[in-house]
Amino acid sequence: MAPVTAQTLFRPPAPTPRTTQPDLFAFLHAARTNPLTSWMDVHFEEPIVMTKGVLGRVMIVNDPAAIRHVFVDNAGAYRKDELQRRVLAPGMADGLLTADGEEWRLQRRTLAPLFTPRTVQGFVPAMGAATERMLRRWRRRDGRILDMSLEMTRVTLDVLERTIFTQGPAHDPDALGRAITRFFEAVGPIDPLDVFGMPDWLPRLGRLQARPALAYFERVVTELIDARKALSAAGGPVPRDILTLLLEASDPETGRGLSDIAVGANVITFIGAGHETTANALSWALYLISQTPDVRARLEAEVDAALSDDPIGPEDLARLPFVRAVLEETMRLFPPVPFMSRAAVEDDRVAGYKVPRGTLVIVAPWILHRHRTLWSDPDAFDPDRFMEDCRGSVDRFAYLPFGAGPRVCIGASFALQEAVVVLAQIIRTARFELAEGHQVTPVHRVTLRPEGGLPMRVSRRA
Ligand code: HEM
Repeated sequence: MAPVTAQTLFRPPAPTPRTTQPDLFAFLHAARTNPLTSWMDVHFEEPIVMTKGVLGRVMIVNDPAAIRHVFVDNAGAYRKDELQRRVLAPGMADGLLTADGEEWRLQRRTLAPLFTPRTVQGFVPAMGAATERMLRRWRRRDGRILDMSLEMTRVTLDVLERTIFTQGPAHDPDALGRAITRFFEAVGPIDPLDVFGMPDWLPRLGRLQARPALAYFERVVTELIDARKALSAAGGPVPRDILTLLLEASDPETGRGLSDIAVGANVITFIGAGHETTANALSWALYLISQTPDVRARLEAEVDAALSDDPIGPEDLARLPFVRAVLEETMRLFPPVPFMSRAAVEDDRVAGYKVPRGTLVIVAPWILHRHRTLWSDPDAFDPDRFMEDCRGSVDRFAYLPFGAGPRVCIGASFALQEAVVVLAQIIRTARFELAEGHQVTPVHRVTLRPEGGLPMRVSRRA
């Protein structure tokens, strides 16, 4: 099949960058409703932009060599800044995502073996089964309009439930899903109190709303841990899932295991960090495919040749390079984590600029991945950028959907494998079209999602 030509490239909707700096009111409004609307032309054009404003001294970095310096070569001079920690921390305190210093190093060493390629490949059947369950549900609703954003959230949660605790929460599993979704809804908008660095004891509306959902979420996780430990103590066969791996994990340097609090915090962290991000990548992929019949045709041809009627297995993945390229290109245009930040803990120099201690350094995949100097036709959807012939020309530090350096996403290969498994199975059996008249708008609320969901008519492939 011929590659997509320049004439047919699709440019999905995105907020037009501002030409001037937003005033304080407009900035706060954008921070709360959709931070994507606060970026300016200059951010998409310049390698480094230095500003001084409500957030203090800020350096926005889009120069791959400078990003490498901050994230890898001199990573010790930076830490996850308060803004990122405050926005994420409410439900994930003490887990890998928000831990810092020695506690983070200890957890990272202890958790790394959970995400080796071999362990992750062992999860292909669970990922395939969760997708099959969703496809069966769709078959019963053939031709109806479904919110694909919700469907993708459900399937990624199902995958996490099947891989983290194979024995499932004894309670109503949908109630857990609802609690998680409500929790993320509530903590989603960035609170102006956080932007101003106000003390933690000042109540944030979002966190107050999230408390009951978080309390429920924590209770279920604690019960699951207790049940598993009791099973193990009774000498019963324990499932080889992430919960067991977490309970058995030990620091390779000291041999010490994780505390129950750290086990629980990491279960919540994996769910929090892993479900909505992966669901968004899949939702955006479905949207982009629905707008590009040529891409859909190539996907269908690849999937039909690669998969049989047997359940999908690890050996099938290597035969799906275009599925993977579509997902990688999707995460370029719609990075699920559109913004990362670090605070300089000592004076540094980056790309010739002085970076005094306390400077907030922002690396925003949303702008980096659409930067005019780093990509040709940056706003166009062109999965061929990630096929073997071109992949080598993508600078490692110009494409950061999973971050980089010591704090790189620990679940990256899990997420990418899951997205390939889910998307390939959808393409094999279903067709989906955007509901007529629906306008798609990307909105940044912790992760990058389609505002108001993604209504699509889903039907069986003939
Ligand atoms: C498409 C899906 C995903 C995307 C785009 C994504 C993206 C990211 C990014 C950008 C970071 C680094 C943040 C920073 O440096 O400030 C990160 C960290 C992290 N991610 Fe993911 N993630 C995804 C899926 C997952 C999954 C499935 C899991 C777990 C099962 C997970 C667990 C984590 C954890 C624990 C961290 C913190 C690592 C550390 O600080 O050592 N993520 N993720």
